[in-house]
Amino acid sequence: MSIQSKKRKKITIHDIKNRKSKDPIVMITAYDALFAKLFDEGVDIILVGDSLNMSFNAQKDTLSINLDQMIYHTKAVCNGAKSSLIVLDMPFGSYTTKKQALKNATKVYKECEADAIKIEGGCERAHIIKTLTSNSIAVMGHIGLMPQFVRSDGGYKVRGKDETDIKKLIQDAKAIEEAGAFCIVVEGVKAEATKAITNSVSIPTIGIGAGRDVDGQVLVWSDMFGFFEEFKPKFVKQYLNGSKLIKDALDQYIHEVKSKKFPNDEYIY
Ligand code: KIV
Repeated sequence: MSIQSKKRKKITIHDIKNRKSKDPIVMITAYDALFAKLFDEGVDIILVGDSLNMSFNAQKDTLSINLDQMIYHTKAVCNGAKSSLIVLDMPFGSYTTKKQALKNATKVYKECEADAIKIEGGCERAHIIKTLTSNSIAVMGHIGLMPQFVRSDGGYKVRGKDETDIKKLIQDAKAIEEAGAFCIVVEGVKAEATKAITNSVSIPTIGIGAGRDVDGQVLVWSDMFGFFEEFKPKFVKQYLNGSKLIKDALDQYIHEVKSKKFPNDEYIY
């Protein structure tokens, strides 16, 4: 059976933590209720990723989205998805100090029903994660290639290419675990490095462009279903040619309106 057919029980932080080295965790992004409802039939985690600024809002990177916009989309996702664990991606600039991070994460918990938040950064952000987790906010970490660093890093760079960087990534993962995060996204990392990262922590790792040695995988929905045509990273498997399906159907609609084939008697009161 490809997706769950029965009504599922709500997936909790505890369930995800317990999936280390077990049944792989399936995570996908969603930005609205319509798709969240579809994905909720089978995935474990829905991430309201700040990638929506690029795929949904046609911006060149994720940096300009703000917290109110993330909360708006998360509310929509929560309206559509009732059983998956829902994670809000904290936008760039919303967690630069402990005080600001706690204020903003508290706002998230108060204004929408997200189960957790996601924060990019390793050792340098551990003190912030610690503040949040010790104030009852569930945190998903994110290390490796971190899209919010695109301007300061001068581009999107694959990580874990040498011993020094692998050591740094392992330190990052350990610091995040120590700070109380319940799992870690590992993005854009050489497959050899991913194995060492996954083995270094007792919380699950969820990979994107990080190979197979993880406890789960995540993809951005508009990439994997072929709706985002601007750029296709090597790690994205396209499960559907969504753009072509829509364009073909749209052509048919245009043709039928112009030729007055639509609406025929079937669609008239
Ligand atoms: O914003 C996003 O969609 C993400 C995933 C790529 C993990 O952070």
